[in-house]
Amino acid sequence: MKYLIGVDLGTSATKTIMINEKGEVVASASSAYPLYEPANGWAEQDPHDWRRAVMETIRETVKKSGVAAEDVAGIGLSGQMHGLVMLDEKNEVIARSIIWCDARAGKQADEMLKRMPVEKWMEITNNPPLTGWTAAKLMWVREEQPELYARCRHVLLPKDYVRYELTGVFATDVSDASGMQLLDVKNRCWSDEVLKRLKLDRSLLPDVYESPQLTGYLLPDVARELGLTTKTAVVAGGSDNACAALGTGVVHEGQAFTTIGTSAVVYSHLDHYTQIPGGGLHMCCCAVPGCWHTMGGPQSAGLSVEWFKNEFCKDLTKRAESEKRGFYELMNELAEQVPAGSDKLIYLPFLMGERTPHMEPSYRGAFLGLNTVHTQAHMLRAIMEGIVYCLADCNQMLKAQGVNVRVMRVCGGGSKSLLWRKMMAALFGCEVRTMEQEEGPAYGGAILAGVGTGIFATVQDACDTFIKEKGSTAPDERESETYREYHKIYNQMYESLKEAFLALSKVL
Ligand code: XUL
Repeated sequence: MKYLIGVDLGTSATKTIMINEKGEVVASASSAYPLYEPANGWAEQDPHDWRRAVMETIRETVKKSGVAAEDVAGIGLSGQMHGLVMLDEKNEVIARSIIWCDARAGKQADEMLKRMPVEKWMEITNNPPLTGWTAAKLMWVREEQPELYARCRHVLLPKDYVRYELTGVFATDVSDASGMQLLDVKNRCWSDEVLKRLKLDRSLLPDVYESPQLTGYLLPDVARELGLTTKTAVVAGGSDNACAALGTGVVHEGQAFTTIGTSAVVYSHLDHYTQIPGGGLHMCCCAVPGCWHTMGGPQSAGLSVEWFKNEFCKDLTKRAESEKRGFYELMNELAEQVPAGSDKLIYLPFLMGERTPHMEPSYRGAFLGLNTVHTQAHMLRAIMEGIVYCLADCNQMLKAQGVNVRVMRVCGGGSKSLLWRKMMAALFGCEVRTMEQEEGPAYGGAILAGVGTGIFATVQDACDTFIKEKGSTAPDERESETYREYHKIYNQMYESLKEAFLALSKVL
């Protein structure tokens, strides 16, 4: 029996799993790391932390599994998207990574429009210049930290930095590369035109592969440290969202899933290439060779909850500890006691700016409708609802693209909450289904490793064989009605605050 490892390089932690040829999870491990927020709207992580966590979790997973080193055929990496990792001529990390939810490069995204008209950006990258995507971040470093930029020889995404550490190879995959805004998304290769307009040298970038392709093997020292061998292959892997799609079996046209983790995303698979007018949803290559996907959602989903928990719920955290329960279990219990709509309280989940559907990086979060009746429980529920209002807007945009989602599969930490699933069912107007396999992106990474090493025939075959639905939550008509009314007001609030947030972003 051969075994496969899937690594999910997330924002709060790295989660690693091992599966066997039957698709069963035999061992897993996770390791957390900090997020640095040195200024309003900035978000950074230390690539060394990612390396440490990946090494630690693979080593622990292998050890727990008791599997012989030579039976571990491959590793598939899934990673948080858009982050900028820069290496110098000695291949050493130059600075902390500016990660996906960082909103500092608004000016650079605007300047990118001066270098090439939006129609051309849409034609090539199928997305308008976006603040949080890698190209704008790189432009920011070039302008604001020219001494660091001058030392930069390699530009990598988070999981591809880890791949370099594991294998010594500079490579990426089409799904993650789509989020750099340098890829010709239709032809699945770097765009010479974009590189020319941005005055970027192709030699900065790694080679691009389809997600299941082999990119290299473990370096001898690394293999020894992990308890593996130099015959363990590392496949190209994919973005966390593209890998979560495999982990939820969303690999055929018309299928969709929602993930609620640090960010939240509504994602739908496309067998064919299409252009998304206006770019209110992202359009990227997916981890199934020759296919694409659309996605959109709030950047600050779990991030909103974590922020509120850390700043305003110290009492609850203590209570959870003393009752030996998880904070999230307690949060659900409290939020369930508040009626749908949180008693006229609405949360706009844009702590780190807004990306889809309206693309306003200067937007910020807000609680609107506050009254003295409102408690911590109301605010927790309002946060959960606000995230789903934003997801519902993105789902609405999918509908406008002709993707009428009849069943929404779910994954990510948030999908474990029945309350959150009920909100989704009510606002999406469709059944929300949980999966037997709860590992999402890490499971997708393991499937890619299995295809790349010839253990599974194709990505779609493996997903169709292994991934099974578990439970279903249907929309409650009364709740849907209530939420539809609140959702309308949420959208009105969004619109009316736009100017104010823009002004706020300009205050020195
Ligand atoms: C997608 C996005 C996030 C990150 C982190 O565009 O920014 O989902 O991939 O999970």
